[in-house]
Amino acid sequence: MQSNRRTFIKSLSAASALVATEGIAKPFGAPAYIPNLMKISPNDKIRFATIGMGIQGNFDTQSALRNPDVELVGCADLYSGRLEHAKSAYGKDKDLFTTRDYREILARPDVDAVLVVTPDHWHDHITIAALKAGKNVYCEKPMVQHLNEGKAVIDAWKKSGKTMQVGSQRISSAAFKEAKRLIEAGDIGQINYIESNNDRFNAIGAWNYSIPTDASTQTVDWDRFLGDAPKRPFDEKRFFRWRNYKDYGTGVAGDLFIHLITGVHFVTNTLGPTRIFSSGNLAYWKDGRDVPDLMACIMDYPKTDQHEAFQMVLRVNFANAGKINDVTRIIGNEGQIEFSENNLIMTKKKLPVAPGYGGYDSFFTFTEPVQQEFVKKYDAQYPADTRTSEPVKEVRFEAPKNDDPSAQHFADFFDNVRKGSQGTLEDPVFGFRAAAPVLACNESYFEQKVVHWDPITMTQTNATAPTSTKKKKLASTKAITNKA
Ligand SMILES: NC(=O)c1ccc[n+]([C@@H]2O[C@H](COP(=O)([O-])OP(=O)(O)OC[C@H]3O[C@@H](n4cnc5c(N)ncnc54)[C@H](O)[C@@H]3O)[C@@H](O)[C@H]2O)c1
Repeated sequence: MQSNRRTFIKSLSAASALVATEGIAKPFGAPAYIPNLMKISPNDKIRFATIGMGIQGNFDTQSALRNPDVELVGCADLYSGRLEHAKSAYGKDKDLFTTRDYREILARPDVDAVLVVTPDHWHDHITIAALKAGKNVYCEKPMVQHLNEGKAVIDAWKKSGKTMQVGSQRISSAAFKEAKRLIEAGDIGQINYIESNNDRFNAIGAWNYSIPTDASTQTVDWDRFLGDAPKRPFDEKRFFRWRNYKDYGTGVAGDLFIHLITGVHFVTNTLGPTRIFSSGNLAYWKDGRDVPDLMACIMDYPKTDQHEAFQMVLRVNFANAGKINDVTRIIGNEGQIEFSENNLIMTKKKLPVAPGYGGYDSFFTFTEPVQQEFVKKYDAQYPADTRTSEPVKEVRFEAPKNDDPSAQHFADFFDNVRKGSQGTLEDPVFGFRAAAPVLACNESYFEQKVVHWDPITMTQTNATAPTSTKKKKLASTKAITNKA
């Protein structure tokens, strides 16, 4: 560790200790912000901790560690088995700090950044607390669980001066960067329609993840998991398959639509839709879940100085026993871009100016003299050079073999942390503008209405009185006692 880093840690530790004391005494009070745009020297390691060590927590940790000069120093999770697993997976050559209480992570002066990889209902609470404690934050998608939670995160980020990245990593892929370049260059003309579907037909794909055999109230901190969700007795399914319940997750929209919308916002420079409508059904997985397994939505994106108006139609079907042929297409008036895994195919097709006549057309229904007159006029109006279209052209883009969007997304985060910059690819303003339409899909589905959204001010223009999807006050959880 370099000396400038030691000095930093020394000066920060006093402040962090204060936050820690306040935070622990008043778990969800408002500890003072530590405004700090500290730059970390290129030679210093960025020390991070992962909060939420489940499936994605492990993937994110590994992706982060594929970057140079970063180090995992701690983990928080609510299931002891995952903390033990983390110790064996990442702590072989060191004493990895583990805890059930994320506030212990935030209180540590040696943590520069945290990865928030918990279920969706914890994202805003932990992110805001981390920013207030002076940590840089990488928060998984969707940034928040409900429409009315985004602004508080944005405010906390602005006030903190810290770096934040939201985790829809596909926009760091070579294919999305290429799509952005092609669209900005006008290669497919003006976008008018975007469609994507993401179908599945298997239990794990439908979120019925394996439940460990030792799941119990001894191994799981159930009360803390509930957080601001309604109180209920321990239920291992709700804990390990939380996506199936709207109290903790965001359904197919928050899990899957979000990636596509993030990609579309990135490649089109749009701010978001103004009208969102979704409909759905629980068609197959009638296993106690309270979110649909089939959902389709339509979103209207208005004209801006970056693009013409376009429509987006998305669908997920977890009960697709037919042929699964997932596709994402961005359609313009001069071609389309279709994504295939990490690659893309652009097809260019430009109509000739002349409309043509004959064939399946009304021309043959005219009288002979009218047909002759029509042809005369047509020939005068459309000279030969207006009658041929450019040949259809297909351009394939193959991502480099070593393209690693997840590690790249972390690279952008860490680069900005080092510079003390807030200029990440997916900052919370971008993150919330992408999350809001998917959260609106849920509101549209559960409340059976069209959601009207102002993407500039990021406010719902037809919000109703508080409903079950609105935020409840976070109940305080028990004091720190549960160290794994
Ligand atoms: N970017 C992506 O491609 C991608 C992919 C999958 C999941 N995700 C996101 O990652 C997040 C986690 O999803 P997952 O599939 O890993 O879920 P998971 O259930 O496998 O893991 C979540 C973990 O969080 C822990 N946890 C819950 N509340 C906590 C709290 N208050 N403090 C500390 N730990 C807590 C749980 O014990 C659990 O181990 C979700 O927000 C999800 O949307 C993103």
